[in-house]
Amino acid sequence: MQLAGRTVLVTGAGRGIGRALARACAGAGARVALTDVLADELDATRSALGEGHLAIPCDLTDPAAVEAMVAAARDGLGEIGVCLANAGVAVGSDPLQTTDATWDLAFAVNVRQHVLLARLLLPGWLQRGEGCFVVTASAAGLLTQIGSAPYSVTKHAAVAFAEWLSITYGDRGLRVSCLCPMGVDTAMLAAGDRDALGALGARVVRAAGEVLDPDAVAAETLRALDDERFLILPHPEVATYFQRKAEDYEHWLSGMRRAQAAASSDVGDDERRNLGQS
Ligand SMILES: NC(=O)c1ccc[n+]([C@@H]2O[C@H](COP(=O)([O-])OP(=O)(O)OC[C@H]3O[C@@H](n4cnc5c(N)ncnc54)[C@H](O)[C@@H]3O)[C@@H](O)[C@H]2O)c1
Repeated sequence: MQLAGRTVLVTGAGRGIGRALARACAGAGARVALTDVLADELDATRSALGEGHLAIPCDLTDPAAVEAMVAAARDGLGEIGVCLANAGVAVGSDPLQTTDATWDLAFAVNVRQHVLLARLLLPGWLQRGEGCFVVTASAAGLLTQIGSAPYSVTKHAAVAFAEWLSITYGDRGLRVSCLCPMGVDTAMLAAGDRDALGALGARVVRAAGEVLDPDAVAAETLRALDDERFLILPHPEVATYFQRKAEDYEHWLSGMRRAQAAASSDVGDDERRNLGQS
C-alpha cells in the first residue's frame, strides 16, 4: 500500500503513537486527516506537519461526531484510502473496582471506534476494490494486561475485529493490519507510572521489554503496510510469547501469575488495595 498521494485518517493523532504515525504518513507523501479529542494537541500536530493536512477534533465515543468527522475529512482532503484507528484509553483495573462507566469508555474507544469507522469507510473501499484499515490494539490484545481487565478485554476485542475484517473482506481488496506493541514511551505509559491504579500495569510493561520511541513504532507500521502484513509487532518477542501461550495455556497462565506477583511485591499498599489484592 503506497501512501503517497493518498488521504490517510489517523485517530488519536494529538500525541504519542498517533502523532508519530501522522508524521510518518505525511513524510511518505500522504495527505493526513488528523483527529483527536484533545484539540490543542491536535493543532500542534497539524502545525508541525505543515500545509496540506487537516485537523478535525472529535470525541470518538460519540457516533454522530465520528460520522461528521469522516465527512469533514472527505470534504477537505478527498476519499480516505487508509485509516489508522489508533486512539485508545488505558482505564480501569480489577473488575471489583471498575465502574460500568469505565467499562463503557474502554469499549467505546478501544472497540466501537473501529466498528464505527469500518461502517463508514468499508462501502467506498469495497466499491473501489481497495482500502486499508489499521487497528492499533496492543500486545495486551494477544497476551494480557496485568492490572487492567478493561484494557485486556477491549484490546483482545480489537484484535478479534481486525482478524474478522481481514478474513471477511481480504479477498475484496481490503488490507487490514493490527498493531500490537508492548511498551511505548507516551503519555499513556507515563500516566500509568503516576496513577495508583495503573502502576502495576506500567511496571509489568517496563519489565517485559524495551520501551520504544513512538517514531520507531510508526516506522515499523509503515514497513508492515508496504509488506501488506497483518500483524505488526514492533517488539518481535511478542510473537514468541504468543506462540508459548498457544502451545501451553496452563503454563502461560501460571507464568503470568508469577509476573504479577513479582510486580505486585514492588507496588505500594495503596496501589495493592486499589487493585483488590489486599
Ligand atoms: N504506550 C504504550 O505503551 C502502548 C502499548 C500498546 C498499545 N498502545 C496503544 O496505542 C494507542 C496510542 O496510545 P499512546 O500510547 O500514543 O497513548 P496516548 O494517550 O498518548 O494517545 C492516545 C490518544 O488517543 C486519544 N483519545 C483517547 N480517547 C479519545 C476519544 N474519546 N476520542 C478521540 N481521541 C481519543 C487521546 O486524546 C490521545 O491523544 C492506543 O490505542 C494504546 O492503547 C500503547
